Amino acid sequence: MPELSKRTETFTDSVIRRMTRISNKYGAVNLSQGFPDFEPPRELLERLAEVTGEDFHQYSITWGAQNFREALAEKQSRLMGVDIDPNENVVVTCGSTEAMMAAMMTVANPGDKVIVFSPFYENYGADTILSGAEPIYVPLYPPEFNFDPNELEAAFRQKPKALILCNPSNPCGKVFTCDELKIIADLAEKYDAFVITDEVYEHIIYAPHKHTYFASLPNMWERTISCSSLSKTYSITGWRLGYIIAPPHIIDVAKKVHDFLTVGAAAPLQEAAVTGLRFGDDYYRQLAEKYTEKRDLFLKGLDDIGISHTTPQGAYYVLLDISEFGFDSDLDFCEKLAEKVGVGAVPGSSFFRENVNHLIRLHFAKRNDTLSEALNRLSEINILKK
Ligand SMILES: Cc1ncc(COP(=O)(O)O)c(C=O)c1O
Repeated sequence: MPELSKRTETFTDSVIRRMTRISNKYGAVNLSQGFPDFEPPRELLERLAEVTGEDFHQYSITWGAQNFREALAEKQSRLMGVDIDPNENVVVTCGSTEAMMAAMMTVANPGDKVIVFSPFYENYGADTILSGAEPIYVPLYPPEFNFDPNELEAAFRQKPKALILCNPSNPCGKVFTCDELKIIADLAEKYDAFVITDEVYEHIIYAPHKHTYFASLPNMWERTISCSSLSKTYSITGWRLGYIIAPPHIIDVAKKVHDFLTVGAAAPLQEAAVTGLRFGDDYYRQLAEKYTEKRDLFLKGLDDIGISHTTPQGAYYVLLDISEFGFDSDLDFCEKLAEKVGVGAVPGSSFFRENVNHLIRLHFAKRNDTLSEALNRLSEINILKK
């Protein structure tokens, strides 16, 4: 048989999605892969039902249906404080996953370097490899997951083509402050690099923290490729709707990449999602309140059990410290946790460049009764102690 491509040799299948399969095998409450078990907003579902009887069953315009791009541009112009043109500044993609891959392929040539903060969302490793780029990892130091500006500048001195900025951040729940973003912005300008953002958790922020869109910082619009999606904001991870927002000369290239990668996002789903994009600001406030309640419930439960954990500023993940359980491998720990305790988690090592083996990630985008059941099971976690 001929050899398969070398391109994929340096990465494994997704650990996150593998943990979902393991959770299902043991009937565990799956807090590994980050998706909700509650319904999307009713208005979206009602519109989706109507759309099936309307004329949206063929390809939409490859870079996104006009109606969707207009609604998106209006919403994001309002929030980002920049004037986004639906025809010049937007490509609609199949989730932020495709947006990030298309953004990488738009800016990076094989051999180019790209800065990635560690811990990082696992897709970025594969994105860099598949686009031929080489990651330069810059550590974020717990407990606040701050970076060292000198280490960041040392990475920029290697002349990277871009920096990937996940804000709010998965898995560490960091929300970058304006001062931190300003340091990144100054370095991006000084060393003439792009910034590719992943802002899928832009609306899941816990007070007093605030989300700042990188593209809205002075002089940053020209060099920022903003990626995000509707997955988390409207609880529709299965609809696979995302987007890139950027200046026209970048969008022209991203359109080509996207066209040949996927042709386009699902036309009926784009049409139904317009309803969500037209929601008023109250919707986003209520979403943040709902997640704040879930975060508080979950963290209090973990405190009552006595497990030490991070406190997220945004997104819906928490890292648990499993040092005291005596496991050499966090992957083994997660398998045992699913099997013996009945809760699905992700080994922290899949997010870190550094040799980190003492953390596991749980998410709390679940109904309160699911979270209570998970906490109930986690109260037995000490049976795993060696
Ligand atoms: C940081 C981050 N980016 C992107 C994604 C995937 O987003 P999408 O469903 O839009 O592809 C996730 C999903 O968990 C994520 O955590």
